[in-house]
Amino acid sequence: MEEALSSKFYITSPIYYVNDIPHIGHAYTTIIVDSLARFHRLKGDFVFFLTGTDEHGQKIEQSAQKKGQNPKDYVDCIAERFKSLWNEFEINYDYFIRTTDSTHQQSVQNAFLKMFQKGDIYKGEYEGNYCISCESFFSKSQLVNEKNCPDCGKETTLLKEESYFFKLGAYADKLLKFYDENPNFILPKSKRNEVINFVKAGLEDLSITRTSFHWGIKLPKELLENDKNNQKHVMYVWLDALINYLSALGFHNDLPNKMDFWPANYHIVGKDILRFHAVYWPAFLMSLELPLPRHIAAHGWWTKDGSKMSKSVGNVVNPKEVVEAYGLDAFRYFVLREVPFGQDGDFSQNALIERINADLSNDLGNLLNRLLGMSAKYFNNTLEADLSQLQANYNEELAQIQIILNSLESQMEEVQINRYLEELWKLFSLGNGIIAKKEPWQLIKNGKRTEVAQLLLLLANILLKAALFLSPCMPRSAEKILKVFGLSVSTEYFRRFILQGELLDSVVLKPIPVLFPRIEERLLQDPKTESETKSKDSKSAKLDPLEVANPISKDDFTKIDIRIGTIISAEILPKSEKLLKLQVDLGEARPRQILAGIKAYYTPEELLGKQVCVLANLKPAKLMGELSEGMILAAKDSNGLAFITPQNKRKDGSQIS
Ligand code: MSP
Repeated sequence: MEEALSSKFYITSPIYYVNDIPHIGHAYTTIIVDSLARFHRLKGDFVFFLTGTDEHGQKIEQSAQKKGQNPKDYVDCIAERFKSLWNEFEINYDYFIRTTDSTHQQSVQNAFLKMFQKGDIYKGEYEGNYCISCESFFSKSQLVNEKNCPDCGKETTLLKEESYFFKLGAYADKLLKFYDENPNFILPKSKRNEVINFVKAGLEDLSITRTSFHWGIKLPKELLENDKNNQKHVMYVWLDALINYLSALGFHNDLPNKMDFWPANYHIVGKDILRFHAVYWPAFLMSLELPLPRHIAAHGWWTKDGSKMSKSVGNVVNPKEVVEAYGLDAFRYFVLREVPFGQDGDFSQNALIERINADLSNDLGNLLNRLLGMSAKYFNNTLEADLSQLQANYNEELAQIQIILNSLESQMEEVQINRYLEELWKLFSLGNGIIAKKEPWQLIKNGKRTEVAQLLLLLANILLKAALFLSPCMPRSAEKILKVFGLSVSTEYFRRFILQGELLDSVVLKPIPVLFPRIEERLLQDPKTESETKSKDSKSAKLDPLEVANPISKDDFTKIDIRIGTIISAEILPKSEKLLKLQVDLGEARPRQILAGIKAYYTPEELLGKQVCVLANLKPAKLMGELSEGMILAAKDSNGLAFITPQNKRKDGSQIS
């Protein structure tokens, strides 16, 4: 990466409807925005990160009525819940906007007036179908079964009322020209055609005021003075909502003027609201004669165990509970890593646990543990090496590291955060691979201390560079890793260790507790969803149960930790008739010593380099005065004994599940 001058970076999340408490979808969008914002702060950009709540409209008016509250009390309460969740999640936003803020109302009225004065708004009569749930109008031809919403399937309401219209149709050609000239406007690129086809199919003018309910922003006073009838109009909730991106910057209101952040670099949205952001919003901005945002990036939706989340099924994932059970960074990692940006993803505890155990505990955690373990054991935590020698000996590895580091920024720019993390993880594989290849414990045995110090220092440099890049996605863990090296997440260290490629030639490591302990069982009770209950019933109706001796539950099984390991040394134990003494590499800080009763079946030589399955969480025991730290799994029949070996070579430490 090259050093660049700091620039302004404006990024927004959608503003969330306050008719519902925050769920995983809201958390997902916000975490993506937070990660991008942190990445740009790390680079030294001046960042403005906006989030907030969308508090007007018929849907919210109805939710308040159902609770017997007046709308303002109701929205105050839910807005607080969003704020407090973001605080708990350490979402580092710069401004929290509420559409009931008087400054926002000022901006919306001024924007309306400008568009009106330009001739883009006219009065007419609206007759058509409206979906209250999506706060969206549809023409007859768009409806499903002549009355249902094409987006959410709910029944629409036929409306006939006086309304102001925005001349959306007049902007169709300009929009198409803009998409054409700005191929990266819509991200991921696969969503671009959807938008273009929507515009090409023809844009009808948009009804932007409503008279059949009250919970909304009134028209500008200039319009109220001329026509008393205008008192009954309130703004269409999407016009009101989209303008939040300007009002937070002080656009024609009393807030401090930050319009130098405009145009926004990214509006991050879910796929369901892409049309509003990629069609209506640019048209409003063209009418206001303002530049258009650089990117609208739309992510996919989360389902739960394969089903759509819904309150009535009771399978809505509460992000707060997940974070309390598994930790904030594990949750952030999971949602960012699990699905390619733009695609739908499925949330399940099993998938989350697998990510924690395989990626966090194994790949990242083991590398750090091995570095800390060996540095403490061999060097009392003080590492030193001659950098030019290190560079000469690890020329190839350093080049590989550089290639990985160089690829990261563009992944982030395209909001491909899953690929960013995937690339970043290559650094941990590379580090673990170097350990497996060089076998530092053998080098130490052979008195090659300088080589081992060099190797460990290389690992320290890999981890500290990786931690800087990890910090936007997993801020707490990155801070902890950097603390090991006496560093912290900062623009200054990013400049030194990433942009200028600096390497540490000496460091005193400060040990820390294990970052990501393995998770052995689900930590949250899942409410049974309808589909689970149904599928279980239908299965049990078809199959007769088999008689199983000593049945155990799946939870019992998850307590058993079986892993792949490579036998790196084997010797006869003279005192024993049956036992061989093995050293098995499970990808940990040091190999395990395992005593196996296999002398009758294998010679030590034929065992070397073999991959085997090891029961890794067996309590250590002493046999014939020697420590045994696991059990190798084997099957025995009348033909003798055979180890269980993976069909293809697998990384040492891989878990069998
Ligand atoms: N208020 C509008 C946005 C106005 S922005 C000017 C709105 N609010 S919302 O609360 O319904 O949705 C906010 C965001 O949450 C959207 O980006 C939506 O895609 C996202 N999600 C809601 N449910 C979701 C999932 N199940 N999965 C992923 N994201 C989803 O729309």
